[in-house]
Amino acid sequence: MSLRADGSAVSAASVTCLVQRPASTIFGMVKRVLLCPPDYFDVVDHKNPYMSGKVPVDRAKALKQWQALCAALAQNGCEVQTITPAAGLEDMVFAANQVFAGSAPSLGKFVVPSHMVHESRQREVPFYLEWFRNRGYKVIDLNLGSDHLEGHGDLLWHPDGSRICAGYGLRSTRGGVEKFAAAMSKLGIAVVPLRLIDPFCYHLDTCLCPLNDEAALIYPGAYDPDSLKKLCGFWKRVHEITADEAHRFMGNGIAVNGSYLTPYLTPHLREILHQEGLKPTLLDTSEFEKAGGSLFCMKAFLPE
Ligand code: ARG
Repeated sequence: MSLRADGSAVSAASVTCLVQRPASTIFGMVKRVLLCPPDYFDVVDHKNPYMSGKVPVDRAKALKQWQALCAALAQNGCEVQTITPAAGLEDMVFAANQVFAGSAPSLGKFVVPSHMVHESRQREVPFYLEWFRNRGYKVIDLNLGSDHLEGHGDLLWHPDGSRICAGYGLRSTRGGVEKFAAAMSKLGIAVVPLRLIDPFCYHLDTCLCPLNDEAALIYPGAYDPDSLKKLCGFWKRVHEITADEAHRFMGNGIAVNGSYLTPYLTPHLREILHQEGLKPTLLDTSEFEKAGGSLFCMKAFLPE
């Protein structure tokens, strides 16, 4: 089942009828991105269903994959910045999670520090916070208490800057998202809470990928029905991906400057990208998938 922009149901077969011409978007512009080298990357525990730990991480291969991502981002016009990795923080390479970064006319550039569910990941936050503070970002510290919020894993800007989609239920908590929404509303930014229900899509960035101002990849099985209806209302064109595509991180790609960086490609995804005028670029992330992450989670877009 798919939903039209007004929330009414359409059959899967008619989804393509919604596809019109791709929009010109902020994805057309050069972007600054932050990444963390995978020097200490490893799988040492079981934070999500992908982390069996049965196949050890090949760190040399991980480094090559990470370097290929940096090169692809640079080739697509991104300015790549890096943070120094810290020993003992095996997931620090997933640079999307430690803070939410944004900017607002009344405040300028700001970050909202995460309160991560896992203790080792929580220890990553101060390193990222220092990086942003040193570059003049203001810090909006939410009093999260026992609530959780996991940065751009669960908080995704609509590309037109009109709102932030906020996943909760598996990592970020409803309370965390509500506190975040209250802080953003003071800045005039709307937040849309979306309840996630598939443990294999434990972060919103595994089941929602904005392609441009008007279109997004969405895996519908990851949402409760009300949330799905709400989410679909924000896009002129909703492209459903399958469970298999979502669980192989095809919805965790990066749409940038006319390309879609993706770890795998199916004929179905190729067709969607073609309709949106995006060129697929395949990048192997096999090592990072062992930790339950792929391309989108390995970088944070920095506000202009
Ligand atoms: N092992 C990491 C964790 O479970 C992976 C994070 C992936 N990040 C993401 N935004 N999906 O926290």
